[in-house]
Amino acid sequence: MKKVQSPYACHIFVCTNCHDDGEKSCSHGNSKKIREILKEEVRLRGWKGRVRVSETGCMGLCTAGPNVLIHPQNIWFSNVGEYDIEDILNHAKTIIGLSAR
Ligand code: FES
Repeated sequence: MKKVQSPYACHIFVCTNCHDDGEKSCSHGNSKKIREILKEEVRLRGWKGRVRVSETGCMGLCTAGPNVLIHPQNIWFSNVGEYDIEDILNHAKTIIGLSAR
């Protein structure tokens, strides 16, 4: 195993898990669409290579979903909707120290 530092200023993890048993899951809150929009916005803003948007499995707070985590800053967003995407991106912008778009 080789241990290296992440090349990204931050990762934005979006839970897209769907529980098969009918329990509330992040995917019930349209988290796949949220992930798609975040990915596209990161691309449009030229942040590719500095901010990475990834889907993840269950992060354990399913009833509060959709859940989004900015790592390693440990900033957690719950009950995320499409209307929250700009706020999440603003956090990422602060993290990578970009000037206004
Ligand atoms: S399903 Fe997203 S945190 Fe569990």
